[in-house]
Amino acid sequence: MKDGAAQAGRWWRPHSLRTQLLLWLITLHLVGAVVTAWFSFLAYGNLVHNALDDQMRLVAESYAGGDPPKIPRAVDSEAAFTRGAFVVQIWSADGMALRASSYPALTVPLQSGQGFRNLRTGTQSNASWRVFTAEPGPRADQPRVQVLQNEDYRRRRALRRALLEGLPIALLLPAALLMLWLIVSAASRSLRGVARDVASQDERSPTDLSLARVPEEIAPLVGAFNHLLGRVRSAFATQRRFVQDAAHELRTPMAAIGLQIENLRAHVPAGEATDRFNQLEAGVTRAQHLIEQLLSLSRQDAPQRAMAREAIDIEVLLRESVSQLMVLADARRVDVGFEGSITPVVFAPAAELRSVFDNLIDNALRYAPEGGVVDVRLHEIEGHAVVDVLDNGPGIPEAAMDRVFDRFFRVPGAAAGGSGLGLAIAQTAAERNGMRIELRNRGNGPGLMARVHLPLPPAG
Ligand SMILES: Nc1ncnc2c1ncn2[C@@H]1O[C@H](COP(=O)(O)OP(=O)(O)OP(=O)(O)O)[C@@H](O)[C@H]1O
Ligand SMILES: [Mg+2]
Repeated sequence: MKDGAAQAGRWWRPHSLRTQLLLWLITLHLVGAVVTAWFSFLAYGNLVHNALDDQMRLVAESYAGGDPPKIPRAVDSEAAFTRGAFVVQIWSADGMALRASSYPALTVPLQSGQGFRNLRTGTQSNASWRVFTAEPGPRADQPRVQVLQNEDYRRRRALRRALLEGLPIALLLPAALLMLWLIVSAASRSLRGVARDVASQDERSPTDLSLARVPEEIAPLVGAFNHLLGRVRSAFATQRRFVQDAAHELRTPMAAIGLQIENLRAHVPAGEATDRFNQLEAGVTRAQHLIEQLLSLSRQDAPQRAMAREAIDIEVLLRESVSQLMVLADARRVDVGFEGSITPVVFAPAAELRSVFDNLIDNALRYAPEGGVVDVRLHEIEGHAVVDVLDNGPGIPEAAMDRVFDRFFRVPGAAAGGSGLGLAIAQTAAERNGMRIELRNRGNGPGLMARVHLPLPPAG
């Protein structure tokens, strides 16, 4: 019952094109059927009327000529009212006495004059009669003949005929509805296809929607949408170029500032000046890191040139990554361990793989406490190769877990030095190469586990 109501609710949608078309079509067909039936009622009514009048006249003439007069065959009320049988009356020549009648129960006197007329014998709907009074014969003593037929029967006959004419149009209705249903369904299917195409677009490099199966009436909309997508693409490219150019332009002067600061260190007097100098140096390092992250990001957003894929030994790559980040580990006195129980090979661009693991290990080193512990493990789980990066830092609040992959998102209160771009860069690079990053707070103590699922089963 509930299901039925839900179904009906789904069917009756006043804003649906299909509902509106169906309603209009039903109305049109019903009006068409009624109008056709009405016109045929008028036309056939006339035809039936004239034909039956002719028959009445012929019957009357066949009795009028008889000498001695023929005795009409009796009819019962069923024949007279339902089957429209003619009631024949034979009157005396002076019209005063009814000599014979095929249905004596009908007491209609001989009408004065001759020809056709209508008359009523009561108030019921079937008490109306068509009467034909034959003209008197040439001899004065010839009997007079009058023929009657039930008018209600004549009307019913005309109506039946007219309804039969309207029937084909009414019968066409289900076929027309089915056809309309199929056409509208096909059109909405192709619209849903377009909607799916739109939904599956990558917002950074949207591609034009296909016009192949789109109905002609909807093609202009899809065309306009493609035009808009073109503008989005070019706006996005402009923004990406701007970020790239700005980061590029900033890189050289920032490197020069870094060098100047290094040279200056020996000349800074001890005390408060050294503290200020250290802060300045940290700021410059942070700015340099941000510039590098922005450059990686804009390189990732650039339309994909086919980057050379090569067979990369993940164990070797991880060792390189760890040793390159050793400077950071030493500065924060973090104990870094590496364990590899398998040696998987992944077929991908080396720079992309580096950007995945560098960012995860960098986070572990950055967010672990001073003197903390970071472990990088390469092993297999249920036949799949994974890389785990574990730290003993604060972990990530569950509420922020989904957002840490967003660009520029940083957990409030996170240790300074980051730009909020590392995980976004790592995730894009991972997904492009069939890998998946999973972040999980460690259950058995503080810290975060970043797990990378490698695309291949572990080799040897
Ligand atoms: N290992 C971790 N432990 C605790 N918090 C983390 C860890 N890794 C990431 N986060 C949180 O997630 C946020 C986003 O990390 P992400 O690497 O994207 O940016 P970032 O480290 O701030 O800057 P960037 O990596 O660009 O230098 C971080 O700011 C931090 O709050
Ligand atoms: Mg980071």
